Amino acid sequence: MEDLAGELRALAAGIRTHLEARARAGLVGVSRAPSPRGQRVEQVQANVAALPAEAVQPLTDPAALEESFAADSEPILPHAGHGLTLVRAELGDCQRCKLAKGRRHIVFGTGNPEAHLMFVGEGPGADEDMQGEPFVGAAGQLLTKMIQAMQLARDEVYICNVIKCRPPGNRDPEPDEVAACEPFLKKQIAVVQPRVIVALGKFAAHVLTGERTPITRLRGNLKHYQGIPVMPTYHPAYLLRDESRKREAWHDLKEVMALLKHMGAG
Ligand code: URA
Repeated sequence: MEDLAGELRALAAGIRTHLEARARAGLVGVSRAPSPRGQRVEQVQANVAALPAEAVQPLTDPAALEESFAADSEPILPHAGHGLTLVRAELGDCQRCKLAKGRRHIVFGTGNPEAHLMFVGEGPGADEDMQGEPFVGAAGQLLTKMIQAMQLARDEVYICNVIKCRPPGNRDPEPDEVAACEPFLKKQIAVVQPRVIVALGKFAAHVLTGERTPITRLRGNLKHYQGIPVMPTYHPAYLLRDESRKREAWHDLKEVMALLKHMGAG
């Protein structure tokens, strides 16, 4: 919570500095001229409106969303970052499920809030729980190499998990835990608006595609989540256990690179 409070204080300070600079420059009020930013706010509103009601309560208020993006023609902070800050604020010191009791940190997500490419894993392990950042352990190191092999840097993409708190002993998340956390994943996706999502492993693939097919059959087959292409592939932890599967995973990632390039986002 302290991190969050600090982030909100920094945001407020940034807005104040920005408004003071505008006042010094003789600019009064807030520009309402149509801008890519304004269009993006509308797009995010449409995305959020398309989510099930229970997933979006506090962000369905258009005024709140508009305010959240500070509909200015000049960026104060990257607005998707601002949107993510609001989603993180809503998550708060989450006690919505029993995982809250055993966690050290909520592991929300990391990377570029306006990333074209998003990776979604299952849930934090011990290292992530300690550090509060997704994919920082052995599997995370492999994921970073996979991202680099795609000619991208880790901080160019956005990385998060379905579940934000570590299940004890790294057991599979239970349905009530997924139900409590999934609305926040949906909001992260609605704010970041990635062009492509990579679902890492069976668990994320099942949540994002709605299919219960084994990952060996699901991987490599492009699916969609709310109109966004989703590429299911093997989880890096699985690749560490069975290196012979790396070739298939690399095939899937190359498909993603081709898709991004085709979309003009690669
Ligand atoms: N495995 C996951 O699915 N997510 C992490 O953040 C780390 C390991």
